[in-house]
Amino acid sequence: MNILLLGSGGREHALAWKINQSKIVKNLYIAPGNAGTSDVGENINISLSDFESVKKVVADKRIDIVVVGPEQPLVDGIVDFFELDPDTKNIPVIGPPKLGAKLEGSKDFAKDFMQKYQIPTAKYKSFNKNSIHDGKKFLETLSAPYVLKADGLAAGKGVLIIDNLKEAQVSLENMLNGQFGEASKTVVIEEFLDGIELSVFVITDGKSYKILPEAKDYKRIGEGDTGLNTGGMGAVSPVPFADKEFLLKVEKRVIKPTIDGLIKENIKYKGFIFFGLMNVKGDPYVIEYNVRMGDPETEVVIPRIKSDLVNLFIQTANNTLENAELIIDENFCTTVMLVSRGYPEKYEKGKKITNLEDVSESTIFHAGTIDKDDGVYTNGGRVIAISSYGENMDTALVKSYKNAKTIEFEGKNYRKDIGFDLNE
Ligand code: AMP
Ligand code: GLY
Repeated sequence: MNILLLGSGGREHALAWKINQSKIVKNLYIAPGNAGTSDVGENINISLSDFESVKKVVADKRIDIVVVGPEQPLVDGIVDFFELDPDTKNIPVIGPPKLGAKLEGSKDFAKDFMQKYQIPTAKYKSFNKNSIHDGKKFLETLSAPYVLKADGLAAGKGVLIIDNLKEAQVSLENMLNGQFGEASKTVVIEEFLDGIELSVFVITDGKSYKILPEAKDYKRIGEGDTGLNTGGMGAVSPVPFADKEFLLKVEKRVIKPTIDGLIKENIKYKGFIFFGLMNVKGDPYVIEYNVRMGDPETEVVIPRIKSDLVNLFIQTANNTLENAELIIDENFCTTVMLVSRGYPEKYEKGKKITNLEDVSESTIFHAGTIDKDDGVYTNGGRVIAISSYGENMDTALVKSYKNAKTIEFEGKNYRKDIGFDLNE
């Protein structure tokens, strides 16, 4: 079987690493991939917004399954494009159709869906340019801090949490006046949830689902969860506070009603669902849906899956996921992300990465890297995720940090406190 995986980050390297271990796979292609994915498959340099090029690769390489890593092609309708074209309609794509991808692509749609299917989430209201005045009045009825969210995709930057009412009202006005372009034409204002976050993932064939290992990521650039938001600086799985009782609540109150809701809405969803949750005094609330795996969560979730991932994809495609086997490694897995100087603001690229060959006891997942004639160079803000197993979180972290010191590039930065809030 030949597989085409779309994407180029640490998430895709982790998925490619796992797909490459499957005995069912003959050829793995990654488009566009990075310096790490070329170790486990063949990179193909095409743009993911160019669906015709993706279709051409599928034909040329006799692809049997397409796996979509990031959200943008899903939100743009790649699944619908494949389904509607007679040449590709029989090629399964792991990812939801455009309407399903709105769970991530539109916060307003996601909140509506949760309200309709009674999935616990923060109370909210949506506003647009014609209702700025009502939005400001609505803010006056809430207490601080105020949570303002751009409706559309805003590269993870569209959520503002503001302590002061007047500032929140000004921000609402700025957002509706185009602070995040099209994405903030509609703004969701919601109640602040006070708790601790975690991510839960499932793969679904549209009727049944398998729950993958949960994870916690560390989004802020600074130690102690301070400073600007990033794509994620590290992650841990399992999450110690997510005990059996809590995870049962997640399944009963969040996962099941979400899958049932998708069925009722006639959305044929085959792919991953990422539930961004807040644990508020032992009760799960949905902060956001994503229609893909998380990054860097994938770099700790995938290593803990012992079963064949490609078999899960096949069963998803065939609507037989119910029968699939999913065995999870009991060990902990941690990942520490090395980032470029300046990230998450303007950052440097093109720095040579050295000592990769000296890494031991960890698995390296490349994120923003590129192969050149004389070695591997940095090519993004997040550069390399260092994933390690351990009997507990601390033994895994010791290995990740040992290798975070070993790997070198000019301007290397990383958080030294991944997991800091999880030790009892
Ligand atoms: P989102 O893009 O919706 O995941 O929001 C980004 C981040 O903002 C989340 O990871 C949370 O840390 C925070 N956040 C979002 N919504 C809320 C909320 N209602 N209460 C508290 N924090 C929130
Ligand atoms: N790490 C968070 C995300 O992938 O959205």
